[in-house]
Amino acid sequence: MPTSPPSIIAIDGPAASGKSTLGQRLARELDYLFFDTGAMYRAVTRVAVDRGLDIGDEAAIEAVAREIRIDVLPPSKDDGRAADVLVDGRDVTWEIRGRKVDRNVSVVAAYKGVREALTDPQRRIALRGRVVMVGRDIGTVVIPEADLKIYLIASAEERARRRYEEIVARRGAADHDEILAGVRERDRIDSTRHHAPLRPASDAVQINSDGLTADQVYERVLALCH
Ligand code: CDP
Repeated sequence: MPTSPPSIIAIDGPAASGKSTLGQRLARELDYLFFDTGAMYRAVTRVAVDRGLDIGDEAAIEAVAREIRIDVLPPSKDDGRAADVLVDGRDVTWEIRGRKVDRNVSVVAAYKGVREALTDPQRRIALRGRVVMVGRDIGTVVIPEADLKIYLIASAEERARRRYEEIVARRGAADHDEILAGVRERDRIDSTRHHAPLRPASDAVQINSDGLTADQVYERVLALCH
């Protein structure tokens, strides 16, 4: 008799490791909710930047995380977005993918109060089930009881190359070296921070996607689901 697929699927991994591509496709196949937690950290960062706040001012940034309402909803437009990201009802889906946010998001995400403000709603959403949730700490902190945990890895060079191609497709141009340096710097901050550092859960299935196509990664994870 076929078994039913895991109800809560956690996908973690470093910057540009292919979590969203995999997660979206898996969610579509299983008819699950796809939930990208990185979008929430990016939204807080975007508001902080827009307000001209000092990114080093932990109390001010935490206040932003507690005050704004962030919604991550199924996509309302067919423009390449994986989800609609709203801040207090305003669509910020593309604004949160800019360079300023890339440069500052890991500092914001390292703050304890910011994580506390965002982790609770993430956990509530995950516990409803039939969800693919992607991030850095989903299998370790947000939902340690997830039924399936995937930890995606790939070399920084490979990840920067993929992110470069993504940005060129979207904006027409990109600076490869800046992207590689940014990916490395975010990995460094994300994995050395005190609260919820980036690391695989002990029961996560690790997949190194160097030399694998997105299709091959997807097929492997789909096989694990069945
Ligand atoms: O798409 P990409 O892998 O570049 O990054 P993202 O998933 O959008 O996450 C942006 C940043 O948010 C990460 O570099 C982390 O600093 C932070 N983040 C986190 O701390 N915890 C999560 N669960 C998700 C993202």
